[in-house]
Amino acid sequence: MVEVVIASRNYNKVREIKEILTRLTSAGSGGLNIKLLSLKSFPGLPKIEEDGNSFRENALKKAQEIAKWTGKLTLAEDSGIEVDYLKGAPGIFSARFAPTDRKRNLKLLKLLEGVPASKRKARFRSCVALVNPQGQAKVVEGSCRGRISFKPRGSYGFGYDSIFIVPKYNKTFGELGYPLKNKISHRARAIQKMGKILRG
Ligand code: IMP
Repeated sequence: MVEVVIASRNYNKVREIKEILTRLTSAGSGGLNIKLLSLKSFPGLPKIEEDGNSFRENALKKAQEIAKWTGKLTLAEDSGIEVDYLKGAPGIFSARFAPTDRKRNLKLLKLLEGVPASKRKARFRSCVALVNPQGQAKVVEGSCRGRISFKPRGSYGFGYDSIFIVPKYNKTFGELGYPLKNKISHRARAIQKMGKILRG
């Protein structure tokens, strides 16, 4: 049994990571046997500034600092949405783009006002870092392509889910909901790769 600390205070993200990893640990997984620990088990942890220039830098920094502090194998994730028409923005600034999820979505829709569906391509990216207490790191990435809707649709999920259309289903993540999102999302793809590494 391997203990892994999930280094995030974002409730929605932690929930998704747990669901994806739990599916990997269940039947047919080929022996992934892990116990997930949340940051709640480690009171007094310092706040970590996400001041890197890439998803990778931010994920690594979070995992390295928490692994050092807890002395345990630690998994951290950094993610965001990149919109082609906005040259990749908001990218690593996705969480800080506006003060609330609703405002972030409305701001993005406003910036794309009048832009036709064919030019609304976007992708979610997720970078996952796993660091052991000795500081050795593994980093993987997952992405999910889609396009930005003309208005919010659906009430599942969080963040930009209600304005991100998955072309195969012509529905937003907000409409598709779990568990489908947790099979096809950027985060699912990255965590599945990390699952293989954890399995060894
Ligand atoms: P982080 O905590 O700095 O990685 O923030 C990631 C931000 O990107 C979140 O606050 C959301 O705004 C956005 N984001 C990342 N993943 C998702 C997702 O799966 N759905 C919707 N928004 C997401």
